[in-house]
Amino acid sequence: MKIAVVGTGYVGLVTGGCLADIGHEVVCTDNDAAKIQTLEAGRLPIYEPGLDTVISKARKQGLVKFSANPAEAVDAGDAIFICVGTPPLPNGDADLSAIDHVAKLIAAEARSPKLVVEKSTVPAQTGQELKRALSVYGRKSGVTFRVASNPEFLREGTAVEDFLHPDRIVVGVDDEGAERQLKEIYKPVLERKFNCPVHAPANCPPGPPPAWLVTTINSAELIKHASNSFLALKISYANMVADLAERLGADIDEVARAVGMDPRIGPSFLKAGLGFGGFCLPKDLQAFVHLAEKSGVDFSLLKEVERINRKRIETFVEKTRRALWVIKGKRVAVLGLAFKPNTDDIRFAPAIDLIGQLLKEGAQVTAYDPEAMEKARGILPEVEFASSAEDAAKDAEALLIATEWPQFRQLNWERIRDAMARPLVLDGRNLLSAQEMKARGFEYYSMGRPD
Ligand code: UDX
Repeated sequence: MKIAVVGTGYVGLVTGGCLADIGHEVVCTDNDAAKIQTLEAGRLPIYEPGLDTVISKARKQGLVKFSANPAEAVDAGDAIFICVGTPPLPNGDADLSAIDHVAKLIAAEARSPKLVVEKSTVPAQTGQELKRALSVYGRKSGVTFRVASNPEFLREGTAVEDFLHPDRIVVGVDDEGAERQLKEIYKPVLERKFNCPVHAPANCPPGPPPAWLVTTINSAELIKHASNSFLALKISYANMVADLAERLGADIDEVARAVGMDPRIGPSFLKAGLGFGGFCLPKDLQAFVHLAEKSGVDFSLLKEVERINRKRIETFVEKTRRALWVIKGKRVAVLGLAFKPNTDDIRFAPAIDLIGQLLKEGAQVTAYDPEAMEKARGILPEVEFASSAEDAAKDAEALLIATEWPQFRQLNWERIRDAMARPLVLDGRNLLSAQEMKARGFEYYSMGRPD
């Protein structure tokens, strides 16, 4: 099928690249001409494992193109996936102006019937507004529009895998034609008939094919917000239990493991630490709270989830203060800047807040991250960026782990210990073993585990 993807952020590029990978003809467009230039030159504006392989293969096959001309892209697609940003407004509501803009563009440029698919995360009832905008602004052309909501559940760092091996595909539609078209688009994923770019054929995850869930448009929109908010809730819950475990001499990792073995609860998203960040969970949670408020539903449960998450940094800084006695004037190394491993994304990253707090208290911060330093440089001018974790640790009086990059486990910790002014590690992600760190001669503190 011919598909246009509007917006070349994380969601748009993964969606466009993967749809081309499974055989569709895709044109990706963005109003940021510099981004399109970068993509046309064969580079990606983001770091996402596997995406470069997917896109360069699709380009060679002529299945994906990039265009700075949105009208051309709209014209080319029978289906148009809207993947533009819906960032938070100062009051926490989702800013839907980009969706509005794209709706008008589609209405003005469409010359043939279009299936318009909302991929961006939007509050429930946006589909209704989208439909209205398309019919009002497109009234002169006589073109017919179908609208569908197809929320994405992609995690940064594993987005390509998540797209091609989802556990469910949710399509919110209000007519069978839209469902048929979407099923055609996702057929290779549903039937698992594609050459997986992520796994070798023998390792391609077996297991059942993804569930195909057809809902109303309102439900599909709500599913996305409800899912992300529930994930956030699990994390904040685990973090509260971690605080309690710490005071009672229990170990949160042991507790969460046993709690998560109950299939009614599940093992994921119970990892305690510095809390959740990234561009999805915090903003979706905020937007969901506002949506509930506007709809007259008291969802203060989720406000607590937010509050607990905000407090994680304070709790960790307090731990650092207790260990260091005085923070002012001390050299502190921070390992990890990205909001989670395997991404260079620092948006709403707990590490960035943590560094801001340490700087405010007068620490001299040296930071290292395997992928996110380029992005962090622009927003943290007072920070020194090291070329390796060992470099960052040199002469530091404390080393703080803010992102659980797996390679940090394999560091030469003996050399780090010798390079530090004081062998003190505060592990905000419970990445390392307390016993091993103590055996290596470190003073070691983590989150929700006995010191
Ligand atoms: C999330 C959703 O998982 C995904 O389905 C949605 O489409 C987009 O938002 P993402 O933002 O990429 O994906 O990150 P995710 O893996 O969900 O992690 C979010 C944050 O929670 C990270 O900062 C992570 O470190 C933190 N986290 C996650 C925890 O603190 N504890 C956990 O147990 C899990």
